[in-house]
Amino acid sequence: MGKIYQIAIDGPSGAGKSTIAKLIAKKLGIDYIDTGAMYRALGYKMLQLGITEDNLEAVEELLKTTEIDFSKGDIILDGTVINDLIRTPEISMKASACSALAIVRKHLVKVQQEMGEKKSVIMDGRDIGTDVFPNAPYKFFITATPEERATRRYKELTEKGETVSYEETLKSIIERDYNDSHRAVSPLRKADDAEEVDTTDMTIDEVIEYICSKIDE
Ligand code: DC
Repeated sequence: MGKIYQIAIDGPSGAGKSTIAKLIAKKLGIDYIDTGAMYRALGYKMLQLGITEDNLEAVEELLKTTEIDFSKGDIILDGTVINDLIRTPEISMKASACSALAIVRKHLVKVQQEMGEKKSVIMDGRDIGTDVFPNAPYKFFITATPEERATRRYKELTEKGETVSYEETLKSIIERDYNDSHRAVSPLRKADDAEEVDTTDMTIDEVIEYICSKIDE
């Protein structure tokens, strides 16, 4: 077995991190871990149970009794595949809100560290290069303009049959950017040693080729 390594992919919402990370994982034959899906899964469960962010006691209890895992590309919450259920605008906002809680971050970061210590992974999120794997040998910060990210997200949602407007999508992206980069705990920021890749004018293939050219394993 070769050396275990981590590739950290961070950046704002809708920059294409998960699409890129998934394809790179396939190309390199390593596991892909979508940490945003873990915050979404928790937000989904909180909504189902009617737990609000100010009820820290209930959140703490929830963390103790919740299992989030990945299997063959599926995200599993307490034994049930919830892939599509967590990709709605409502869950996006709830995930952003619950990800601002220190107890939530502490718990999920620990779970993510355990996932990436046993095998090589490419992990995407907001704090992978800063908090989850500060010593990762490969760190990238993927960006694109808010307008370009809104265009991509709008296309993705409408193709899935969701009725949203471009303006709403852009507003939600700007709002989440603000929340994610202004929260007190682990705000979104580029790790000093991460390489920034602005994908506004790049195709997915170009981004993948560029990142893979930097991986020396
Ligand atoms: O990447 P995403 O849109 O699926 O993430 C959902 C929310 O979770 C997003 O608002 C930011 C938050 N998040 C986070 O705070 N830290 C991570 N490592 C991943 C996601």
